[in-house]
Amino acid sequence: MLTGAHSAIAATEPPKVVDEFLRDVLEGLSRAQKTLAPKYFYDTQGSRFFDEICNLEEYYPYRTELRLLPRVAQELDHVFREQASPGLNVVEFGAGSLHKIKPLLTSMNAIRHFTAIDISGDHLQAACDSLAHHFPELSIQAVEGDFTKPLDLDTQACTPMGFFPGSTIGNFIPDEAVDFLASARETLGPGSYMLVGVDTKKSESVLHRAYNDIKGVTARFNKNILARINRELGANFCLDDFDHCAWYNRDEGRVEMHLHSNRSQSVSLRGVEISFERGETIHTENSYKYNPTEFEALAQRAGWRTRNWWLADDAMFSMTLLYCDA
Ligand code: AVI
Repeated sequence: MLTGAHSAIAATEPPKVVDEFLRDVLEGLSRAQKTLAPKYFYDTQGSRFFDEICNLEEYYPYRTELRLLPRVAQELDHVFREQASPGLNVVEFGAGSLHKIKPLLTSMNAIRHFTAIDISGDHLQAACDSLAHHFPELSIQAVEGDFTKPLDLDTQACTPMGFFPGSTIGNFIPDEAVDFLASARETLGPGSYMLVGVDTKKSESVLHRAYNDIKGVTARFNKNILARINRELGANFCLDDFDHCAWYNRDEGRVEMHLHSNRSQSVSLRGVEISFERGETIHTENSYKYNPTEFEALAQRAGWRTRNWWLADDAMFSMTLLYCDA
């Protein structure tokens, strides 16, 4: 069904990772509300903790989306089968371990090419090699780069369909989400589609449990950002002096994660002293929840029209198919 299997890395300029990390940390910790960017959760240890979170009974988004994907893939197979198109090039943004693409590849005959974009080139290449083993006929391209910026892709004369599962869209503040969706539209070009996994608004107690699991894995994931700053930038955060806290902010429609300083203290980072009052927090993550019509309005601001949406398990999670005119 699929032809022309190959796999290649198109690496971009390696960023000055440490300088950028140090600059962002110092800038974030000098604000009135101290903040750290959630992208810094995902070093090797943080990615392991996140994999553990996905297997927790309380953390519904991962398994709910995985259950929904085969149904979405079958319906998309019908949509694209009826169109006399040259086939699809699915472009996954922030592809990671490539677990979520498999249901699409299994059910959608129209997919000719798969382009996986991720900042971590080595991890991505290994995941693409394993995918090529399972789908030997598929043409695969691994692109190492920042998926939040427009990229110049060879769309292989196919119809491009972006793929952004996992409700990672919720980790951007709404204006950033619009910027990302507009940048993805630029990368994919006119006449393209985009399939996005979006976590929905739901009962506060379900959300609370999902981000405050009983085994404390989310707490370890949250605190790992301090451990990473110690490891990579030589700071002296004492992890026991901070507590994980997460709650649903109803006015903003988001779960917020913070690290709460449980005493008055001072931390040193490359000669800079950072002081914390007792009770002060570092804001580490937002996880916005959108109902399908709210997400439709957000995507519209980025130039996308909604083609279809699907809801899973009592509206616990959604997937939306977006389209932009040729
Ligand atoms: C990656 N992202 C969609 C997760 C979320 O639910 O916002 C990250 C996470 N934070 C705590 N648990 C999981």
